[in-house]
Amino acid sequence: MPEVDKEGERYAADRPQQTPGFYLKGSHQLDWGMKNRLARVFAPASGRTVMLAVDHGYFQGPTTGLERIDLSIVPLLQSCDALFCTRGILRSLIPADTGKPMVLRASGGPSILREELSDEEIAMDMDDAVRLNAAGVGIQVFIGGDFETRSVHNMTKLVDAGLRVGIPVMGITAVGKNMVRDAKYFRLACRIIAELGAQYVKTYYVEDGFDTVTASCPVPIVMAGGKKLAELDALTMAYNAVQQGAAGVDMGRNIFQSAAPQAMIAAINAVVHKNLKPKEAYELFSSLKTKG
Ligand code: R5P
Repeated sequence: MPEVDKEGERYAADRPQQTPGFYLKGSHQLDWGMKNRLARVFAPASGRTVMLAVDHGYFQGPTTGLERIDLSIVPLLQSCDALFCTRGILRSLIPADTGKPMVLRASGGPSILREELSDEEIAMDMDDAVRLNAAGVGIQVFIGGDFETRSVHNMTKLVDAGLRVGIPVMGITAVGKNMVRDAKYFRLACRIIAELGAQYVKTYYVEDGFDTVTASCPVPIVMAGGKKLAELDALTMAYNAVQQGAAGVDMGRNIFQSAAPQAMIAAINAVVHKNLKPKEAYELFSSLKTKG
C-alpha cells in the first residue's frame, strides 16, 4: 500500500505550467529541429501522444507478444503516434516507408539474467539516430540504483549529443526491484531527469499524488504501462494519468498482450486524445473486439 502523499498542496497541481509560444510544456525555448521532432511525436491538436513501446527485447529477448514483431506490431503502426523500439528491430522489421516517427532505445547492457539492471551503458551513437531519421531517443535512468551516477551520466551524454543535432531525449525512470514506487520517488526521479536536460520523461503511474509528479516536472511526462492489467484497469490508469497532467502514454504490454491489440490501442487513443472516460473507452474496446 503506498504511503499517503501529504505534500501535495505545495505542488499547485491545479495551476498548470504556462506554455508560451509552443504547446508542449517546457519546450518553447528549444530549437526548431527539436520542436519539429517533438511535434511529430506529440500530436499538436491534443498536445499528447500514444507511443507504442516495443523495445522490451533489448534486455528480455522475445517478450510475450513480441515474438514476431512483423506479425504483431507492424499492423498496429497506423494506430500509434510514435513507435518506441530498438534500432535492430527498426532496421530489420519496420517498413522504411512508414510515416510514423520512431523513438529509439539508446541504452543497454545487462539482460534479465542479471540481478542488477542499472549496470547500463549508452548503446547507440547519436550519429546512428540521425542516420535513422529518429524523432527521439530513450534511455533508462536508475535513480537510487547501484549504478546511479553512471546511468545519470549516460543520460547527460546523450542529451549533449542530442542537442548537437536536434534530437530530443526521453529519460525513463527505471525503478529497482526493491524500491518503493510512490509519488515521492517519482517526483525525485522525474525532476532529476528534467533538471539534467531530458526533453521529456517516461514514468509510471501511482494512485496517490501522480499530479504532483507531473506538476513538479517542468517537461512533458508520458506514462509507462507496466505489467499487463485487465483492459478496463489499463484504460482507467491511462485516463487518470492524462487527467493528472501526463502528455500521453508510452505503453507496451497492456496493448500488445491484450486479447485484441487493435481494439485496445484504439481505446487508448480515445482516452488520450479525446478524454474518453474509462467506462466508455472499455465499451469501445469491447465493440471493436467483437467486430475484429
Ligand atoms: C521501458 O523501460 C521498457 O523497456 C518499456 O519501454 C516500458 O516498460 C513500456 O512498456 P510497458 O508498457 O510494457 O511497461
